[in-house]
Amino acid sequence: MTFEQTSAPPAAAAALPAWLSKDLERVEDLLLATAGASAHPLVSEPSTHLIKAGGKRLRPALVLLSAYSGQPGRHSTDLAAAAVELVHIATLYHDDVMDETETRRGVPTAHSKWGIEVAVLAGDFLFACGSSLGAEAAGEVPGLLARAIAEVCEGQIMETAALDDPARSLDAYFEVITRKTASLFRAACELGAATSGADEMDRARLSRYGLNVGLAFQVVDDLLDIVGDPRTTGKKLGTDLRKGVFTVPILLACERDRSLAQRLDAGERDLDVLLPEIVATGAVADALEMAMSFTRRAHGALGEIKTGEYARSLGGLLDGVLAQILK
Ligand code: IPE
Ligand code: IPE
Ligand code: MG
Ligand code: MG
Repeated sequence: MTFEQTSAPPAAAAALPAWLSKDLERVEDLLLATAGASAHPLVSEPSTHLIKAGGKRLRPALVLLSAYSGQPGRHSTDLAAAAVELVHIATLYHDDVMDETETRRGVPTAHSKWGIEVAVLAGDFLFACGSSLGAEAAGEVPGLLARAIAEVCEGQIMETAALDDPARSLDAYFEVITRKTASLFRAACELGAATSGADEMDRARLSRYGLNVGLAFQVVDDLLDIVGDPRTTGKKLGTDLRKGVFTVPILLACERDRSLAQRLDAGERDLDVLLPEIVATGAVADALEMAMSFTRRAHGALGEIKTGEYARSLGGLLDGVLAQILK
């Protein structure tokens, strides 16, 4: 397999507030200690590979920030934040096998380094690591994590059922991304609220915020797959298209240009050829507007929370999601 080296992966998102760095450091220690605990190098090396490669750490940041709606700094919040990132990384190992991609977080994917069997099992190992931290956190944490894991799997399976279908409805697309992506963002916010003893109203607002950030995030990620810069995303362009995962910009373009839909149906997958035609339909701009409308809903949910530094930081994180593409 060939491997195209991209530059370093994005550092922890610029949108994460500096004052959260101490909290994030505690989570980082938990991540490495948990995923690196096996005495077998063929387990610990693949399992810590993507942790060491970087990543934006958005989901643990959501847990930590949401915990400021109650009593922050509890160990159960740190455990939940690390658990969510481990679950997220586990899904990335499996997703990279499904997508047959060679690069993630700017480094070779686990399966391109150690083979599919080890990558899938390292993903399973990371799910177990996340679940074990969840069990240690106790309370509502194991149940919230289990529900999110189940939803991510449902979303990923629903997506495979819709491969290569340019007539897939936008509703079906949004159902998939609600499960495969937004469910973990929502769970992260709920975990922060639950472990810090936040009141029910704020928890519901944070949950709505998390869901809408997650939806905006996946639409932006889908746009970055066609118009992003691999040097900053750490991923190869055009992966969705090549695999027949037709996302919102492509589905909108197909609705507007039937010949495009016919050519995708016939197997055309060359992004260089298709991109100008997709852009010409206005689909890229309209998909971006959809992402913005989710961020407005998320900001709306935040607006109902008693103001504080943490709510402003959640707003900053939200704006950072759009900033990835609004350059
Ligand atoms: C990638 O998530 C998977 C999606 C849901 C699109 P991120 O873009 O948050 O990945 P990392 O954690 O920064 O690598
Ligand atoms: C996958 O979505 C979301 C997961 C559950 C991992 P994508 O397939 O768009 O994620 P990337 O683009 O590979 O990071
Ligand atoms: Mg993928
Ligand atoms: Mg993607």
